[in-house]
Formats: sequence, C-alpha cells, structure tokens
Amino acid sequence: MAPEEKSTAQTSQRAELLEGTRISDDIKREVATEIEELWRKPEQRPCLAAVRVGDDPASEVYVKNKIRACEEVGIRSEHHSLPCSTTASELRELIGLLNSRDEIDGILVQMPLPEGIDEAAIIETLDPEKDVDGFHPVNVGRLALGRPTFVPCTPAGIIELLTRNEISIRGAKTCVVGRSQIVGRPMAQLLTQHDATVTVCHSRTQDLKSVTRQADLLVVAIGRPGLIRRDYIKSGATVIDVGMNKISEESIARDLFGDDAARRMETIKRRGYTLVGDVHPAEADTVAGRRTPVPGGVGLLTVAMLMRNTVKAARLRRG
Ligand code: GUN
Repeated sequence: MAPEEKSTAQTSQRAELLEGTRISDDIKREVATEIEELWRKPEQRPCLAAVRVGDDPASEVYVKNKIRACEEVGIRSEHHSLPCSTTASELRELIGLLNSRDEIDGILVQMPLPEGIDEAAIIETLDPEKDVDGFHPVNVGRLALGRPTFVPCTPAGIIELLTRNEISIRGAKTCVVGRSQIVGRPMAQLLTQHDATVTVCHSRTQDLKSVTRQADLLVVAIGRPGLIRRDYIKSGATVIDVGMNKISEESIARDLFGDDAARRMETIKRRGYTLVGDVHPAEADTVAGRRTPVPGGVGLLTVAMLMRNTVKAARLRRG
C-alpha cells in the first residue's frame, strides 16, 4: 500500500477509524513467537503453498502480500503462478501433488479463478487438513456445526478486530451485507456463534437501507463501491468495510473522499486508480461511531489470520 493511500483522521470526521495495522502486527508477532517456540530449526517450520492462476493484478498483489507475511513470521512458502491457459485438470494435478507432499502444511488457492474453472470443484480437491482458507466443504461444515478447525481468514480477522478493540458482539444487532462463501456466510455464522442477532442482506434484498440502519454492527462485503451511504447507517454504529474496489474517475473520488479527495486524485493520476470499499467514507464518517478504512483495514487482518491458520495446520498435522 502506498503511504499516501492510508486514510488519515480528518478534523471534521466523527467516526473513529479502526485501522488493521496494529492488530495485524500483534497477531503476526504472536504467530512468530509460537513458531520459534515450536520449531527451532528453520527447515522444520510450517510451509505454505500459494497457488495463483491467471493474470489478475489484484490477486497478484494479494498473493505477494501473503508470501511477504510468511517471511515476516518465519513460515516457509512457495508460490505457484500458473498461466490463464491452465486447465482444471492441470490445476487438480498440482493440488494433488501439494496434498501428497508431507512438508507442505497449508495450501492456498487464490480466488477468483479464471472463467471456465469451477472453483467449488477445485476447492473439493484440497486436503481439508491443509485447507488454511477454510473453504473446503469439510471445514465449512465444521464451522456450521460450531466446531471449526479452519475459519475463513477475513471473517476470522473481523472477529479479532472487534474483540481486541473491545467492541461488544454479544446481543448486538448486526447486519451482514453480502452472502459470499468467502466472507458473508461465514461472517454471519461467526457472529451468531458470538451471540449476536444477525440479519443477512444481499443483492436481492428489498429496501436495503431500512435493514442496515437498524444495525449496531454493520459488515459490508458486496463489491459495490460506496454503496453504503449516510442514510444506511445507524448513528454511532460500527461499520466494517470489506469491499476493495478500484475507481479511476476523479469526479467519483471527489464525491467519496471529502477532505481526503485531493490525495486520492493524486493517486489516480499516478497509478490510474485508487481503492474504495463498499462504504461511502465521507458520508459514513458523519454518522458512524467507528469505521474500518480501505485500504488499511480488514485486508491486513486477512493476511495475519492466514498465518495463524497455517501454524494451526502444522500443529494439527504434526501432532
Ligand atoms: N480471494 C479473496 N479473498 C480471498 C481469501 O481470503 N483467500 C483466497 N484464497 N482467495 C481470496
């Protein structure tokens, strides 16, 4: 992330920014300590295999960040970058090989996969014991039963962000916007397991704002830039923004970022785009009590939780 893209507190804003930096650093430090204590020799340390197919630039950045985090905490890693032309059977073959290699503890297949490859079918070929993303049906089922082994990293990171900031979940009126396998569904399950009252909304929900504005805790993961505006948010609510959308039009940046717009337009000029979540930051900040920024919010926690899941996989596999 370019430093100039980091959200900064504005004097006019009310919402407190819940940045992911400190907590993700804390989690990575805890993971690094655990690795040092459990595996003294570098060659014994947990090993993560990351698989990426195609040339999606965002996926490339995400995988790079995950590999860098491995280096930071002392996890060994290998990166398999496959061309767009890769067939489902070639990908299955690679995953079969990674499943069978004893020194590999965790396998991560970066989503989305190119069109034409059935993601669900690929996920089913993963060894559930190496499924550090928690996407395999066995791990999805365990979470649904309230007996999770690997919890998907983004929702798990959001729970850490809330609990470590002492934001109460028990009994809270919460709303999850989005029902993806990666975020929305597991998020709703985790919140329920933490005794929240949960409403799930999605692209077909009628009069979305009448539902979202009742929530004390609003988690948004629907992939629509700036969808959640002032009138969607209850006064004082905690708003967790999982969206990660690219925008390149300066007029949109001006509308979305308020006091921060000049900096964002600089980024657009230099890079061709800037990142915005699913929440309209300038409007949300006038009503919400707390808000996670994009970038610099939950994305950092996703990576930290992947490190934690990889160490858990190594511990479980090696007894
Ligand atoms: N694509 C978006 N989020 C994720 C994630 O947490 N894991 C993987 N494998 N792919 C993703």
